[in-house]
Amino acid sequence: MPFPGIRMRRLRTSATLRRMVRETSLSVDDFVYPLFVRAGEGTRKPISSMTDCFHFSPDLIAEEAAEVASLGIPAVLLFGLPEKKDEQGSEAWSEDGPVQQAIREIKKQTPELLVITDVCLCEYTSTGHCGVIRDGKVDNDPTCELLAKMALSHAQAGTDIVAPSDMMDGRVRAIRDALEQNGFQDVAILSYAAKFASAFYGPFRDAAESAPAFGDRKTYQMDPANAREALREIELDIEEGADMVMVKPALSYLDVIRRARERFDCPIAAYNVSGEYMMLNAAADAGLIDRDAAMMEVLTSIKRAGADIILTYFAKSAARLLRT
Ligand code: PBG
Repeated sequence: MPFPGIRMRRLRTSATLRRMVRETSLSVDDFVYPLFVRAGEGTRKPISSMTDCFHFSPDLIAEEAAEVASLGIPAVLLFGLPEKKDEQGSEAWSEDGPVQQAIREIKKQTPELLVITDVCLCEYTSTGHCGVIRDGKVDNDPTCELLAKMALSHAQAGTDIVAPSDMMDGRVRAIRDALEQNGFQDVAILSYAAKFASAFYGPFRDAAESAPAFGDRKTYQMDPANAREALREIELDIEEGADMVMVKPALSYLDVIRRARERFDCPIAAYNVSGEYMMLNAAADAGLIDRDAAMMEVLTSIKRAGADIILTYFAKSAARLLRT
């Protein structure tokens, strides 16, 4: 029955009707809020490359985490900036590293808030690469051992979930084994399974002081052109013991999120990365778009593509909007 029997606009006539037929709804339960923790005391310093983001010292981060929890956001994701870097990135598994301290502080104040910790060496190595270098290349297998040590130290400090973001082969297995062997069978793994070598990480690398000192990350992060390969990466990580998998970045990879959703039944996360965040902020600052409306549209698109979990620097603002 074509027009005029069918009028698609009929179901758009009122806000209530639109609400009733809405296919995708965002919830605060979907969000994870990333936080940057830096060695030191008494610091809460704005990050110049990322609007409304701060470097917190471990003693001040619990307060921020409590605010995140009070908004109903279920989890934070912690990134660490160590006092000093070396070739191996050894501060990554130090008991008193900034992340390890932050985990303990947050768990003391807000035990119900989930803590997810990023597991990767790039913030800790003097080379800025996500692994150890041998003959000018990132050496896969020794790196996996260090990542397992790092994940274990996070578990010992009390993290709920570890999130390896390095893209080494076999690191999920190495981390799962280390956790099992040391009595941390309930610490979950959210693997950055399909992480692309993206230009959209720029503001983050300033914030985390983690830009590579030479070369790029293309020998370990994925080629943006490949979606089938992303599905293989995800499949392998699930086989190795990942409880949840991630696609990163989100916006240029909505098709990958959708294909992953259709193929796998585990929770799928998507990372709305720093460059995506700052593009929107820059356009809003220039008066070109409405920040809140664009933010909600972007987040809804990630959910509609099939993500269960959205890691986003917008989490607090979106949570506030969803409340009203
Ligand atoms: C570390 C890591 C990166 C991001 C998260 N973990 C940067 C990179 O791979 O260079 C990017 C996050 C963002 O851009 O918001 N490996």
